[in-house]
Parts: sequence; C-alpha cells; structure tokens
Amino acid sequence: NQQQTWSQRFESALHPAIARFNASINFDIELIEYDITGSIAHAKMLGHTGIVTPEEAVQLATGLEQIRQEYRQGKFTPGIDAEDVHFAVERRLTEIVGDVGKKLHTARSRNDQVGTDIRLYLRDQIYQIRQAIREFQGVLLDLAETNIQTLIPGYTHLQRAQPVSLAHHLMAYFQMAQRDWERLGDVYQRVNISPLGSGALAGTTFPIDRHYTAKILQFEKIYANSMDAVSDRDFAIEFLASASIIMVHLSRLSEEVILWSSQEFSFVKLKDSCATGSSIMPQKKNPDVPELVRGKTGRVCGHLQALLVLMKGLPLAYNKDLQEDKEAIFDSVHTVKACLEAMTILLREGLEFSTPRLSAAVAEDFSNATDVADYLAARGVPFREAYNLVGKVVKTCIAAGKLLKDLSLEEWKALHPAFEQDIYQAIAPQQVVAARNSYGGTGFEQVSQAVTAARQLLIAE
Ligand code: ARG
Repeated sequence: NQQQTWSQRFESALHPAIARFNASINFDIELIEYDITGSIAHAKMLGHTGIVTPEEAVQLATGLEQIRQEYRQGKFTPGIDAEDVHFAVERRLTEIVGDVGKKLHTARSRNDQVGTDIRLYLRDQIYQIRQAIREFQGVLLDLAETNIQTLIPGYTHLQRAQPVSLAHHLMAYFQMAQRDWERLGDVYQRVNISPLGSGALAGTTFPIDRHYTAKILQFEKIYANSMDAVSDRDFAIEFLASASIIMVHLSRLSEEVILWSSQEFSFVKLKDSCATGSSIMPQKKNPDVPELVRGKTGRVCGHLQALLVLMKGLPLAYNKDLQEDKEAIFDSVHTVKACLEAMTILLREGLEFSTPRLSAAVAEDFSNATDVADYLAARGVPFREAYNLVGKVVKTCIAAGKLLKDLSLEEWKALHPAFEQDIYQAIAPQQVVAARNSYGGTGFEQVSQAVTAARQLLIAE
C-alpha cells in the first residue's frame, strides 16, 4: 500500500478522503509515456555512471518498456492508491523486475522527475499544435487564393469603413497564426531544458551525469540551478500565454463568422456538416462551432490566470501547489488542438461565402468616400479640405437618398472643378480596392504577393 511507497516514518494510513484529495493519478496518467521515457534515461545514466550495474540498468529499462506496452494495451490501469503516475510506474516496475526496481529512484526525486515529464509532454504537444497551426494556415491560404478578387466590406468600429479583398481579410488571420507558430517555437526553447538530476531541490550525493540524461532525452540545455529547476514553471506559463493568444485569434475569427452568418450580414452560409439546429425552432441553423471556440477561449485564458496566481508567492523550491499545473496544461492542450481542428474543418468545408451578397454590400454604401477625398488630394487639394468637402457631399447624398456614384458629372464639377469623368472609375468598388497598392495594403497586387509569399513559406517547410 501507499505507506510502503513513502517511508516507515508513517504509522497509520491516510484518511481515504485525504488520499483522494492528494492523488493526481486520475489526471497525471496522461504523462505516463513521458514518465517512462524519462525513467529509462535516468536508468541508463545510473548504469553509465556505475551507480547501478550495467545489467541492472538494462533490467530497469526493459521493465519500463514493458510497462509502456502494458499501458498501450490497456492492461495497466493504476488506481487511486498509487497516488500519482510516478509512484504507479515505480511500483509496477518492482512487480515486474523485482528488487532491482527499487533502485530506479536512486539520485532522483519526484520533483525533478515531474518537471522532466511535463517538459517532455509539452515538447511533444508544442510540435503537434504547430502542425495544427500549419493546417489551419493552409486552409486560410486556400480560401484566400480563390478570393483575391472577392470584395467584402472592411470595418472599423464595426461600421463600414473601406472595402477590402476577402483574401486580405483572411490573410490577416494567416499572419496572426504565423506569429502563433513562431511564438510556440520560441517557447519551445525554454521548455527544452532538462531539470533531471536536480533531486528534490539541492542536487544529489551520487556521481550522476546530467548531460548524459539530457542528451538521451534530446534536451538542448540543462538547468544551471537545482532549486530553480524543480520549482520553475515559467515555461508552462509561457505555453499557456501562447495558447491563450492562439485562442484569442480563433475567437476573433469565430466572432466574425458568427456575425457573417447572421441574417443581418448574410455574408456566409453555414453548410450542414458544420451547423446545428434548434430543439424548438425548426428554421434555425446555428453557428455552434465558432460559438464553442469563442466560449472555450475563456477556459484557456482562465488556465493561464490560474497558473500565474498559483506561482505567485510560492517559496522555493518544490511545493505541492505545483501539482495543480497539470490540469491547466492538459486542458489547454486539448482545447487548443480541438479548436484548431474544428476551425480548420469549418473553413475547409463548413462555409460558403455568398458572393452576390458581398458584391452588393460593397456597392451600396459610402465606403468609397475616402477615395473621393484622395481623388482631390491627388489633384492638389489639401487632404483636410478635400475631406471636409466630401463630408458635405455625403451629407447631401444621405438626405437625397443617393450614393456617391449617383451624382452626375455636373454635380461633381459644381462641388469642385477638379472632378472629371474618371471619378466614376475611381469610386467603383473594384478600383477602390485595387488602388490601395501600398505595401501590406488590400490592393490586388499586394494581396497576390502576400498570398504567394505565404504559399512559399508553407512549401518551404
Ligand atoms: N504528483 C506530484 C506533482 O504533480 C509529483 C511531485 C510530488 N513531489 C512531492 N515531493 N510531493 O507535482
């Protein structure tokens, strides 16, 4: 039982409710394969340094591999009495290989062990999440490529501002995702440092070789200070911050899809494969996918906050509070992966942009007003003067129930002699977009170049 796993110092058993309260096996079982991998490296190091015999090291490693197989086959399901995944594995190892199993924990503590496990776990997960980001970027890019000439109203303050290429709008999300991908790569460098061999907090009396385990586990570096090593969770906070930012990006896109699919906008139609119905209103088709993504964003941001508050005020070195990092990390990983996948599917096959509705939308408003001011400014009228003049025109048009394109050339000329026939061309939506050809702007040439560059970026991998 548990008493034997700790030491003979204890005289009576844990209260059953306290045992449940203390145990982390229900969730840290997710670390089992990383725990085994870390233990194998430790066992090999013990053999390499002569702390155990080479034969014992092999026995330990073989037994640990057997536990991995048992776990994968569903044959190893440790219960609450094991307390945590580390005790569970060590106990099973001793059942398999006998007394030599009791040597595994030489020169090690669960504190450096669990730190190693989470880092191995996060390395793997960061790799997978970055892959998922690439998939997401891929569908954004596919959509952008086929929609360079599609126009959509661009908004500021959620008021119609200037029309843009739909591709330009989508590529904004591509760029956010690119930063997310890069940010995770940056976090990876702080995750990829080995705490193994730091012991409980102070190092060990045994002649261990920390570089040896780090090399086997492919850690880039090792922690320089054992107390820092066992109590640092900066890397986890950074990961959760990156995860939160990813979610915020997905949530913004979700919000747009939700708006766009409303009857008021009607810019997109949701396809049946990605929409849900109502239990009472037969006509409803609801955007549950983006709504859930938007909702789940709160969870991940909450986990970041939880870990920050958890760390604040923790004295050195290890404290059991740190056990609380697991669920925050695991749930964030699951949530980010699930949301990236759902959004990727939604974009790939769940929406259809309503092109007639979009082209009507960009033609029926005053989002070309800036272009009239620019027209005059390009012909020598100071911009502020032009701006004021166009403001007056817009006011008159609104009163008359007209759009700018409805004004006759005489009316234009009456406003300012600089207006010529080409004003009609200058304020046509397609031209309004094409003309914004400054670097990074929505002009078709710019957008084409951005799309090509993005494609090359993805291919270069
Ligand atoms: N289950 C613990 C955790 O998740 C493992 C480390 C426990 N160490 C200790 N000295 N109590 O953090």
